[in-house]
Order: sequence, then structure tokens, then C-alpha cells
Amino acid sequence: MWTRRQQFSAFAVLMLCFVLLLHQNDTIREHANRASTYIPYKAWSNSYYDMSEEFSDMDYLGSVPPTMPCKGLVPITETDILMRPHGFTVYDNLYLRNGTLYAIVENPLTFPDLKHVLAKPLDQKGANLDPTPEMMQVIMPGDATNILGSRAVAIEGASFIIYDMNFLKHYYHWWGEIILGAIKIYTAMTLTAGFRGPLADPSRFIIPNIAGSSDWHDKVGIIAPLMRAAFPSASVETGDYWKDLSDTNQTFVFERAMIISRHAAHKSPLGGLWFAMISTTMEVATPPYFWEPFRQRVVRNTVGYLPSLDDKGLVLSKPKSSAPIVLYISRQNAGRRLRDEDHEDLLNSLKELEDEGVCQVQVVAMEKLSLKEQIETVGRATIMLGIYGNGLTHQIWMPATSRSTVIEIFFPQTYRHDYSMLSRNMEHAHYAVWNDTTLTYPKGQWFKGINDGRREDFHGNNIPVHGPTVARVIRERLWVPTLNSTNTSL
Ligand SMILES: *[C@@H]1O[C@H](CO)[C@@H](O)[C@H](O)[C@H]1NC(C)=O
Ligand SMILES: *[C@@H]1O[C@H](CO)[C@@H](O)[C@H](O)[C@H]1NC(C)=O
Ligand SMILES: *[C@@H]1O[C@H](CO)[C@@H](O)[C@H](O)[C@H]1NC(C)=O
Ligand SMILES: *[C@@H]1O[C@H](CO)[C@@H](O)[C@H](O)[C@H]1NC(C)=O
Repeated sequence: MWTRRQQFSAFAVLMLCFVLLLHQNDTIREHANRASTYIPYKAWSNSYYDMSEEFSDMDYLGSVPPTMPCKGLVPITETDILMRPHGFTVYDNLYLRNGTLYAIVENPLTFPDLKHVLAKPLDQKGANLDPTPEMMQVIMPGDATNILGSRAVAIEGASFIIYDMNFLKHYYHWWGEIILGAIKIYTAMTLTAGFRGPLADPSRFIIPNIAGSSDWHDKVGIIAPLMRAAFPSASVETGDYWKDLSDTNQTFVFERAMIISRHAAHKSPLGGLWFAMISTTMEVATPPYFWEPFRQRVVRNTVGYLPSLDDKGLVLSKPKSSAPIVLYISRQNAGRRLRDEDHEDLLNSLKELEDEGVCQVQVVAMEKLSLKEQIETVGRATIMLGIYGNGLTHQIWMPATSRSTVIEIFFPQTYRHDYSMLSRNMEHAHYAVWNDTTLTYPKGQWFKGINDGRREDFHGNNIPVHGPTVARVIRERLWVPTLNSTNTSL
């Protein structure tokens, strides 16, 4: 049993502890208050910051932390649409929450049907690929707060969201359709009413539906290094990035985003004319030579310099050329190739042109060159010659001049538009060759339809070509008159 005195002492000690604890708590709270004022997520010197209520009368205790500009939370506002060809849609203020994209607009009918914006990223012939509400929704401003809250975390700059899974590891499909198409639409934006420049460099490319980088890197290692050369400051993100954003349980807003989707692009009425994803962009007006700045950048950043050519196609930068360069991309080591005797015949015709001083001929098997050598070789060429195939994608790095030309050999009577569309975008002249027949179409005209013929012909190893016919096209394009008996002075 405790005495009264002991009881009193125990009580006194207890009280003391309590008072001490309270005091301690106060200091902790005060400390915490002060500490929180140091969290530098809000700007104090930068005008575009939202100086919001909770931090507006901060006391920085005399020291100003370093500024790291980040817009942070911004109010949720309506979405604008800037460009809308099927499969290449550009929005300002596009929202993302829990993996679902949201556009906010008063009248949803003024926005394109989502089927024309994106599709399930699958490759199942005949399957219903229409987008689901988990992928994207168009909502009204009245519903926005309920679904998204009142503020969103800003993802600054221009984001290119590639909503595909397939055909990413293919040089032509990646560079000749996805990136060329995206840049075309992006630069076309500068011609729209109310556009205020300059056009910012893309900040990031996001491929939400693939697991990682191995899902967009090709076997031969061309696609990705060229991407880094073209956009050295942009990141390429994949599914884990998308998931990270979802896992924050916050709404994010893409200040500007282009949604790119292969299946949605194929829904374009123009798909029936040219049968490719890029078809949807073909009629969109762009500034002239919209691709040239990107070409120059990629060539410079890959090769180390930009080859310079004069208006006749002579290479002036070292190593100089003696005449315009004709680059024959040989596929004689591949499946789809020329008949051996026609390949020899073609080489002879090219040799004659070279002997005559019409051009300098370079025959290359691209797979044997390093990436740098490939791009340098193409960057010096005026005429590119080859069989239908991925090698002709390289024409996007060939200088655009009044003589630049792509000569594409097909099995007679067969045709595909893939590389002629690249030529149109690059402003290269394009000639299809069917043995001894040539086909070329001015602006506004094209080969009607598509014709693969029999697979064993189109993709076969027995494709004929008449060398002198190819030589005639080269002469025409280099504006060298044909030599004949009565006029040999040229
Ligand atoms: C987030 O998305 C997942 C997958 O679509 C869904 O199952 C879940 O219910 C969503 N969570 C919320 C809070 O909407
Ligand atoms: C996400 O946020 C909502 C609304 O703020 C909340 O109701 C929900 O519990 C949160 N979910 C998670 C997983 O944090
Ligand atoms: C290709 O054209 C040449 C010249 O006209 C002709 O002699 C040859 O028979 C043609 N080859 C084929 C396979 O049609
Ligand atoms: C030389 O040949 C071309 C076509 O082969 C012809 O059009 C041209 O008239 C000829 N020139 C002369 C002077 O005969």
C-alpha cells in the first residue's frame, strides 16, 4: 500500500511527464510547420506558378530554396482539339486518370468519334477493335469534377502517345508511318488559324501498351538509335510509365498530346487509296519541306556532319563526288531479289552511265554497313534505286533537291504505295519500274489500286529489270540528254 505522500509524488511525476510531453508536442508541431514551408514544390519567383491559397503567405525564414520550375497542380479546364486526321489526333489538355484518357468538352459531338482516335492495340483480323471506356472517354465539364477532381498534375510540353503494340519493330512502319506521320501532323499545326509558335520540340513519346524497350527496338538496331538522334532530349516511355501515373491515384493532364493509332488511322477514307497507316495524313497541308529540319538533325546527329550538295547533286563536302551519286541498294543477298542476269545487266548499264560521267554509282548492301555509314551514304545520294523493300525507307534521310529521285523496282504488273508515299512526303520524284516500263505520277495522281500479284512473283527471287530503262530514268532526272550519233558534244 502506498502512503498518501508516495501517491502525491507519483502523481507529481506523472504530471511533469505529461507537461513535458505537451511541450515536446508543441515543438514537434512547430518544427513540422516550419519544415513544411521548405518543401519547394511551389514557386515564388516564377510567374507561371499557381501561387495557391495554402502557401501564399509562406515565411521562408530568410532563405530562398533553389527554384525547380514545375507547374504542379493546375485547374481542370476544357480540352481543345487541334488536328484530327484519323489516327493522329492532337489535343490540348488531355487528361489521364487510372489509365483512362479523358477529353472534356461541352458538346461531345464536336469531337471525333473515338473509333477514329484510337483502337484496341491488338492485331486480330476481324476482331472488334473499337476503343472501350477504360481506354478513353469524352466527358462534359459538369461531370469532370466527379471523375477527375478539380486539379490535375501538369505533364508539360508535347507528348506523342503511340497507342499500338504491333509493327513497332519495323523500320518502315516506325519511321515511315508513325514518326513521319506524327511530325507531319505536328508541323501542319503551324498552319492552323490561331497557332502561336514556335513549335516546341516533342518532350516525350509514350507507348502505353508495351512492356518495355525491347518491344520497340528492331533486330538490326536502326529504329531506336535514329530516334535518339532525332529527339535527343525526349524520352521514350512504355507501359511501366503509364502504370506509375495510374498508381499515384491522381489526375494528370497532358498539356499537348497526339494520340497515334494504327487501326484508327486505317479507318480513314484515304486508306482505300493507298492502303497504309500514313494514308490518313497524305492530304494534310504542311509547310513546304516540313521533314527537312528533322532529316538534317538526324543526319548530323548520326554522322557527325551534314553532307552538302549543289543543285546538280554534286557532293561538295568531303569526300567530294565527281558527279551526282546514284545509290543502288542491292537485295541480292535477300529473299526478294532480281534475276541474277538482270542484276548484272543493271550493273552494266549503271557502269556505262558512270563511264560517261553522268553519275557516280554506289552499290551497297545496307546490312553490311554500320548505321553511321548507312546514313552518311544516303545523305550524299541524289538518286536511290532498289527493289520494293525496307531499304527504300532510307530515302527519308536523302537530301530533298530538284533532282532527288527514288526508282523502285517491282515485279511487272504489281504495285504497292508504301515507298512512293514516302517520296511524296520528301518531295523526291518517284518512278516504279516494271522491267522495261516506268510509271510516275504527278501530284494529285497515283497508281490506282494495289496489286501484289502472286506472292512468289512479288516477293520472289526472279524479279526482272531492263537495265537500259533504269539508265534512261537516271539520265532524265539528272537532266543529261541521251547521247546519239548526231549529237555527241554533250
Ligand atoms: C482503375 O482501373 C482499374 C483497371 O481498369 C479498375 O479495375 C479499377 O476499378 C479502377 N479504379 C478506380 C478507382 O476507378
Ligand atoms: C483514390 O482516390 C479516391 C478519391 O480521392 C479515393 O476515394 C480512393 O480511396 C483512392 N484510392 C487509392 C487506392 O488510394
Ligand atoms: C524485259 O524487257 C526487255 C526489253 O524490252 C525484254 O527484252 C525482256 O524480254 C523483258 N523481260 C521480261 C521478263 O519481260
Ligand atoms: C537523240 O535521241 C533522243 C532520244 O533517244 C531523241 O529524242 C533526239 O531527237 C535525238 N537527237 C538528235 C539530235 O537526233
